[in-house]
Amino acid sequence: MAVWRFITRILPLVLFVGAVDKGNFKTCDQSSFCRRLRNISIDNSKYVLDLEALKVYDNVVEAQLKNTEADVTFKFSLQALAGDTFRMQVDEIQPLHPRYKVEVALEKDPEPKKIELLDRNNEQVSIKAGNNKVILKSNPFKAEFYENDQIAAIVNSRGLFQIEHLREKPAEGTEVEGQDPGAWEENFKSHQDSKPRGPEAVGVDITFPGALRAYGIPEHADKFALRTTGKGGLEPYRLYNLDVFEYELDSTMAIYGSVPVLYGHGPEHTIGVFWLNSAETWVDINNSKDANVVSSLVNLMSGTKTESRVDVHFMSESGIVDLFILMGPTFGDAIRQYATLTGVAPLPQYNTLGYHQCRWNYNDEEDVKMVIENMDIHDFPVDYIWLDIEYTDGKKYFTWDPIRFPHPLEMQANLTKTGRRLITIIDPHIKRESGYFVHEEALANGYYIKNKDGNVYEGWCWPGSSSYMDVFNPVVQDYFADLYSFERFKGSSDALYIWNDMNEPSVFNGPEITMPKDLLHYGGWEHRHLHNIHSLYTNLITYNGLMKRTPNKRPFTLTRAHFAGTQRYAAIWTGDNAAEWSHLVASIPMCLSEAVAGISFCGADIGGFFHNPDQELLLRWYQAAAWLPFVRAHAHIDTKRREPYLYSEDVQRRIRSALRQRYAHIPLWYTLFWEHSITGDPVIRPLVYHYPKDVNVVDIESQLLIGNSVMARPVTESQATNVNIYFPGGPTEIWYDIEDYRAFTGQGNVNLPVSLDKVPVFYKGGSIIPRKDRPRRASTLMHDDPFTIYVALDSNKSATGTLYVDDYETFGYKNKEFLYIRFDYKDNTLTSTFINKDASYPTKEWIERVVIIGAPKTIKHAKLVSKGLGTVKLETSYINDDKALVIRKPAVSLRETFTISLV
Ligand code: GLC
Repeated sequence: MAVWRFITRILPLVLFVGAVDKGNFKTCDQSSFCRRLRNISIDNSKYVLDLEALKVYDNVVEAQLKNTEADVTFKFSLQALAGDTFRMQVDEIQPLHPRYKVEVALEKDPEPKKIELLDRNNEQVSIKAGNNKVILKSNPFKAEFYENDQIAAIVNSRGLFQIEHLREKPAEGTEVEGQDPGAWEENFKSHQDSKPRGPEAVGVDITFPGALRAYGIPEHADKFALRTTGKGGLEPYRLYNLDVFEYELDSTMAIYGSVPVLYGHGPEHTIGVFWLNSAETWVDINNSKDANVVSSLVNLMSGTKTESRVDVHFMSESGIVDLFILMGPTFGDAIRQYATLTGVAPLPQYNTLGYHQCRWNYNDEEDVKMVIENMDIHDFPVDYIWLDIEYTDGKKYFTWDPIRFPHPLEMQANLTKTGRRLITIIDPHIKRESGYFVHEEALANGYYIKNKDGNVYEGWCWPGSSSYMDVFNPVVQDYFADLYSFERFKGSSDALYIWNDMNEPSVFNGPEITMPKDLLHYGGWEHRHLHNIHSLYTNLITYNGLMKRTPNKRPFTLTRAHFAGTQRYAAIWTGDNAAEWSHLVASIPMCLSEAVAGISFCGADIGGFFHNPDQELLLRWYQAAAWLPFVRAHAHIDTKRREPYLYSEDVQRRIRSALRQRYAHIPLWYTLFWEHSITGDPVIRPLVYHYPKDVNVVDIESQLLIGNSVMARPVTESQATNVNIYFPGGPTEIWYDIEDYRAFTGQGNVNLPVSLDKVPVFYKGGSIIPRKDRPRRASTLMHDDPFTIYVALDSNKSATGTLYVDDYETFGYKNKEFLYIRFDYKDNTLTSTFINKDASYPTKEWIERVVIIGAPKTIKHAKLVSKGLGTVKLETSYINDDKALVIRKPAVSLRETFTISLV
């Protein structure tokens, strides 16, 4: 039976080549709750807020919200939180069963903020918290959020708010009028969902008056700006972590991750909403001015209030209503408010920002050795080599194949000698094989997820018949984390880090390739209540396991499935893309959507996972990937080998140069990750983040900003001879090509010729970018290397920038063992200062060169002054047709502050 099932269900999946099989996944219309919530009629809300009994406390407003049609009353609260955020919750007063409240996504209990009552009458109550005001309207219920007296968001604006109260199941054969046929039991393909609790959906609509676009709610293989969905048009954006084989582009279908945060953006402000719900969710978007930017521009210029708006509608299968309103007012503020709730990515090891070489699979120890040797022979930097599922003994995680990987510790030690590290995959499915210690222990201790009848659930994944640890059980969490210890994961060392894949979870023979919703987890929760946070627990476990294993080394995990808060534990990649130009194009908006949703550490499989890229595509992919936070080449087991040294000299030279550019800029990436860990600011940013009032940038997704100082426009078109680039920032903004220092001044579109060598990347005038320009085999070998400081001058001939350094690996920085330096250039003088005066680190790094781009043409020499070196005359020379001035060998240590003046 099992073999038959494998042949009929799994094999076609594995062998299937082509587009996604959409029939495996539900449309909104095939899902009872989505149908129910989408069928609510507009402007006819039955919800009334009882204002008489409403109470205003220090930080919270409490009231009762009544569904007048169903005659059920709910408890309503609106809390003000630190950092200009509100939280609105609606739950049942005495539910028949408890309703699930997601906790794990929040980093800590949000800090409350003081509320002031402004006014109350029979129709509405107004309160204030900081600069923000909320008007709660009674009948029908509405909540209007004002930022500095400007209306910014309206909850239940269109009357789509809904919370279905839990109810007794009607006796068999009873007809309930108006009840959806799938309310108490639902079938999809051959799968039946028993739905023991019946209908329990929640939904809310929010309008952003004045907004031109909405962004966020990853993960979708779609545009950065969310598109209008609606009946008869596009399906709503679906958030349900799924393993979608050969996912389709330009699609609102669910894929591996779900981060339910969205930003309504207009020229006046950006307001976020975070819908904290771990159940299956669909989101309808209605953009009143879809693609009609010009009229908004006219409105803006003429001072008339823009009429544009974006309406969104969140619909979830279960849970409570738990909605955070992030009041901005800037995009950056709203993202920081979101980071205050769900946390930031901790500072990663420096080497994780280098190049990762992966494939399914490196065959054996000899293969691993050969790949690294060849990378060295051909001068390609690489920091990590990865092992996919075949390294295990028969897909049993925490074991090694005894024939192909008999000496894993020796292999890791050899890697470490050349400055490299190893990453191995650990998936959440556990092979049901007697004698396999993990399976036997899980079975004996009752650690597995149960099916609806209380027996251990069995599904199919890579190993064949598998069961799944109940990661929601705290005892299982400790047990699983401990499997990462050296004692339990024999053959692992502190040079080994982890890749968590298939954690949606993927179940090949399950409904929609995942778990049945009526499986039972710890605490009696059904899988339906928790599905989207399954991966978050797997990542939390891995993080805790690695922390316990090597407490002073910063852990690294890559995860495929993700949710709000994943950034605290893991980096992500965009899953199984394909070797097609369109997938290269999509990698940028996909990672930008993740970055604004708190997950900056993102990349896409270089070359495309499925199929074989031609040389040009592979090359362009390396060039583009070098400007995303996570840089990994990966490929399906059936593809041809494609390590960079296998290509022609020309292709190799170009890939080498792309990777060297990456390595030269790791100090910038590292500094940005440090700043992200302090502020929550995303590491990569869409143009609209820094240029919110420029309506021309709202749809730009082929360009991205790295911090605020670098703009990349990777070439993602086949046989391109030129690319169109938009330079934002107004008439005095200068952007310098980072290769020849050509200056582009003033905003607008420029058509730039490109050869295969060219990657259009620009430094913004006014920035200072520290680089390490000496090429090395691995970033771990660059720790002590000197810096070249690139100063890109703005139209006032000044610039500023930061640099963060530490030991690049440990948690020493938590004891103030770091240097965080600010560089300023003004009046022909470059100055360094320490931002954290109480921190120090005995670094050996020093400055070997300063390059001043856009320097005045009359400089004779430069003069350095520092405590340690005194006053030193430095040689200067102009390069690139006098476009930049090089100051040679300041030779000043980073440990001391200095000034360098041009004379
Ligand atoms: C999944 C992953 C892919 C991996 C494969 C085998 O398809 O997305 O990256 O290579 O599983 O583990």
